[in-house]
Amino acid sequence: MRAALKTLMPRTKEIRVPIATKLVLSFLIIVVFISTIYMIVGVQLISNRIVSEAQDKVRHDLNAARELYLSNLEQINSVVRINANRFFLRDALLTGNFSEAYHELQQVRQGEGLDVLTLTDETGEVILRTSFFDHTGDNQADNELVKAVLEYNVPISSTLLVSGEELNQESPLLANQAHISFIDTPLAREREETEETAGMMLIAGAPVFDDQNDLIGVLYGGTLLNRNFGIVDKVKETVYEEVQYKGKDIGTATIFQDDVRISTNVENEDGTRALGTRVTEEVYNQVVGHGQPWIGRAYVVNDWYITAYEPIRDIAGKIIGILYVGVLEEKYNDIRQSMILTFGAITIAGVLVALIVSYFIARWILIPIFKLINASKAVASGDLNAKVEISTRDELEYLADSFNAMALALRKRDEQLKEFATQKIMASERLALIGQLSANVAHELNNPLTGIVTYSHLILEDTDPDDPKKKSLEKIVGQAIRCRDIIRGLLDFSRQRKPDKTLSNINTVMEQCLSFVENQALFLNIEITKNFQEDLPMLVLDASQIERVIMNMIINAAEAMDGDGELILTTRSTLEKDTVELEFRDTGPGISKENIEKIFDPFFTTKDVGHGTGLGLAISYGVVKAHNGIISVDSELGKGTTFTVRLPVKVTEEVPDNGNPIQNISH
Ligand SMILES: Nc1ncnc2c1ncn2[C@@H]1O[C@H](COP(=O)(O)OP(=O)(O)OP(=O)(O)O)[C@@H](O)[C@H]1O
Ligand SMILES: [Mg+2]
Repeated sequence: MRAALKTLMPRTKEIRVPIATKLVLSFLIIVVFISTIYMIVGVQLISNRIVSEAQDKVRHDLNAARELYLSNLEQINSVVRINANRFFLRDALLTGNFSEAYHELQQVRQGEGLDVLTLTDETGEVILRTSFFDHTGDNQADNELVKAVLEYNVPISSTLLVSGEELNQESPLLANQAHISFIDTPLAREREETEETAGMMLIAGAPVFDDQNDLIGVLYGGTLLNRNFGIVDKVKETVYEEVQYKGKDIGTATIFQDDVRISTNVENEDGTRALGTRVTEEVYNQVVGHGQPWIGRAYVVNDWYITAYEPIRDIAGKIIGILYVGVLEEKYNDIRQSMILTFGAITIAGVLVALIVSYFIARWILIPIFKLINASKAVASGDLNAKVEISTRDELEYLADSFNAMALALRKRDEQLKEFATQKIMASERLALIGQLSANVAHELNNPLTGIVTYSHLILEDTDPDDPKKKSLEKIVGQAIRCRDIIRGLLDFSRQRKPDKTLSNINTVMEQCLSFVENQALFLNIEITKNFQEDLPMLVLDASQIERVIMNMIINAAEAMDGDGELILTTRSTLEKDTVELEFRDTGPGISKENIEKIFDPFFTTKDVGHGTGLGLAISYGVVKAHNGIISVDSELGKGTTFTVRLPVKVTEEVPDNGNPIQNISH
């Protein structure tokens, strides 16, 4: 039982992981696995959501910026259109007196914040220039806007790229204002130029008609966008409400001329406006190169922004610049980071809670198991009254019930064994008494019986063959001899004579026995095979006693086969050479299961009355035991029986008290 428990709970030096740890670990692995997936997916989903929200926002902001930009253009358009219809202009053109017109237009230009407000005649020749007094006479018919107004006779407004010379003509101040030197910008495209002298203008032109509705001139006016921050600052002010994040403007707007910032509130690191810096090549290629808007993150001067860019086109539809709005990405990055931290904190909290919960669950599961272990230990140490009380309504309760049933069964068997042992002891004491008694009786009867046999023999010899008493006398002699044999057998069995041991060769003893029986009628039809190992070690034994054992084995086999069959006799030494085995194999009927347990009992015989005393094996048992050997039997009904006698090579004289020479009785 102890050994069984040890295999149940091996106390080896291998690392033992308790079930509680395994349970808690499995719980943790599941929780960590699920939370990690939940965190990765969650963070990814929300990040994507944040990014797409931000992109939607800048797309909106770009729309707002465009509206502002166009409304500025529309404003200029209205001013020009309204003034082109005023009488003083028509009169001035018709009369050639421009002094009033100059004053009026000058007031309008200043009042409306225009940089240019110029009047041409119907050929495009400038006749009045409010931004550069006296600087007239040049022909603007090549100016794309003037050209279009002259051609279509309608008010037109547009963004226009104006060269440095043209600007110089409108006003040297404007040419100066437009001039912007490039500043090295990371990721910008390669350019040979180092400065921008042209300018980008919001410009509108309107035809002036006489009373007959004939075109007599063109009024055009506009504002230069270079270094003019009205629009971009308005975007920042209205769309982004000048909100700051970590000291930086959260939203910025820019107008690019080609790829150069000419009006912006994006700042350099020193806090000045980043005029002259340029857009990244990637954005440029998409917006200017392919005319596609850009929505996404972009590196702007010195920070990452979530941006929206769209092309600005001139009157002919050519892309001449870019309108940009963007919000600082840092804000969204921080939102995402704090979200990841929150997720992480929730995950860690979840893991901790799972740890605590799994610890308690493991304890809850393990308490009944510990009860079972303690009960098993108690049973192992002999306390068969140990009982496990578990009411978990699950497999453990079922196990506990089975355990209790097992303990009860063990208890009952224990009690039965005790009772059986007590009965056996009493029976063997009784047997010993009977044995003693029968030995005495046999001893007492031996001499008188010897007398009866001798004298009845003598009388029989002296009796005439025709005497009618002769038959009765013969029966007396026969029965007396039988009685004497029984008594002698009894004496042999009970005497327990110490063997008279000498060094003998067991093969010789076997041969000797065979020579006694070989010629007897019983053996005539029996085929005897001898497998005698030649180099057997010599044994120290009482040859006459062992002869008796061998004879009994051989005769038993022959009688079992009823004088017809095969008898195989084998002698061999074991591998260790410490034992010699004598094997008697026959092809007889075999021994039944009930009988095999009794064959070594004295007086057990299946032979007819007068044929066997049932003492042969009982005596053999005693003899082999006295030689420190063992007898085993292996039998199969219908096939045959094999008796094996094992005799030790080194004989110790002492026989253990409980030494049992019978082994391996199988069936
Ligand atoms: N080889 C065998 N095959 C079948 N049965 C056997 C064999 N050897 C012994 N037995 C059975 O065991 C019984 C007991 O044998 P044992 O030698 O003790 O007594 P016995 O042979 O009947 O009588 P005895 O030996 O005194 O003449 C036999 O009666 C027989 O039933
Ligand atoms: Mg016998």
